[in-house]
Amino acid sequence: MRSSVVLLLPVALLLFPGTTPAAAQLVESFYSNTCPNVEAIVREEMEKIIGAAPSLAGPLLRLHFHDCFVRGCDASVLLNSTEGNLAERDAKPNKSLRGFSSVDRVKAKIEAACPNTVSCADLLTIMARDAIVLAKGPFWPVTLGRRDGTVSSAFEAANELPPSSGDIPQLTKIFASKGLDLRDLVVLSGAHTLGTAHCPSYADRLYNFSSSYAADPMLDSEYAEKLKMRCKSVDDKAMLSEMDPGSYKTFDTSYYRHVSKRRGLFQSDAALLTDAATRDYVQRIATGKFDDEFFRDFSESMIKMGNVAVLTGAEGEIRKKCYVPN
Ligand code: HEM
Repeated sequence: MRSSVVLLLPVALLLFPGTTPAAAQLVESFYSNTCPNVEAIVREEMEKIIGAAPSLAGPLLRLHFHDCFVRGCDASVLLNSTEGNLAERDAKPNKSLRGFSSVDRVKAKIEAACPNTVSCADLLTIMARDAIVLAKGPFWPVTLGRRDGTVSSAFEAANELPPSSGDIPQLTKIFASKGLDLRDLVVLSGAHTLGTAHCPSYADRLYNFSSSYAADPMLDSEYAEKLKMRCKSVDDKAMLSEMDPGSYKTFDTSYYRHVSKRRGLFQSDAALLTDAATRDYVQRIATGKFDDEFFRDFSESMIKMGNVAVLTGAEGEIRKKCYVPN
């Protein structure tokens, strides 16, 4: 068995050049003997969760992204802070994360069916995929076998997550440090078709932008005026805005239409128009004629993101509760 895995590894690396040796150990059938119904159980719970609160699809997708970008997809984002350690989830960019109790709820169901078997990192990966399916987006098969980390640092999260003020060179650098390229950046930014944002994530584009401009000139001025009516000052912490106004609960290509009209909410969204390759992609998908292509691209980039620095084999552990190491 072990020798066949060793033999298959180089083949997997050849077929999926971006795949690290650890990610090559992930397989769709990982729980087929130990927890064959894992995906069905998650789907059933997710149908209930998203059915009751469709606006949770975005937050559950974002949890997986913020997990994978800090220490890889090891569920470190779910760990609680302890005395003496401020965990990722208490870092500034993670203060607006939601969906933790939904993860706990699904984990409890899984533990009841298959105790000590399914990692929280795999659970987050399946839940993110299901969130997109239930928001009318694409389905893709997930590979499984991730293990859970035991370390979680707010400092690392603050340093490694991309800031909303990011430009293309900065975002490219951060994505490259996770093995993701410019194409993944423009494709995965399409996740902003789902969800909402708090005023401080974009208010600096509206007020005192620079010594020359009161508001960001890359933001459509009519749209800026509308945003100002909702977000009254940079300190307005309570107000939420839809990132893809009109269809923020549906996974579709309208995000790219907003961005192409200079109505992307963050500077990182607007930045996609400043590079020839990302601008071409935004404008192509914005036509609405290539929705299938975007769905395929998004699935591929999500698979790549789900492979970032995973723990496998004897590394890490299978947490019993997602918010605390065993
Ligand atoms: C390209 C770099 C990115 C930056 C700078 C960025 C930044 C942000 C910010 C600032 C928010 C709003 C937080 C708030 O104010 O509540 C947000 C929300 C969101 N982001 Fe991103 N993001 C990026 C990439 C991604 C990726 C790769 C994904 C997923 C694959 C993603 C998924 C989401 C979702 C779904 C929301 C809405 C969450 C909710 O409704 O609570 N983002 N992002």
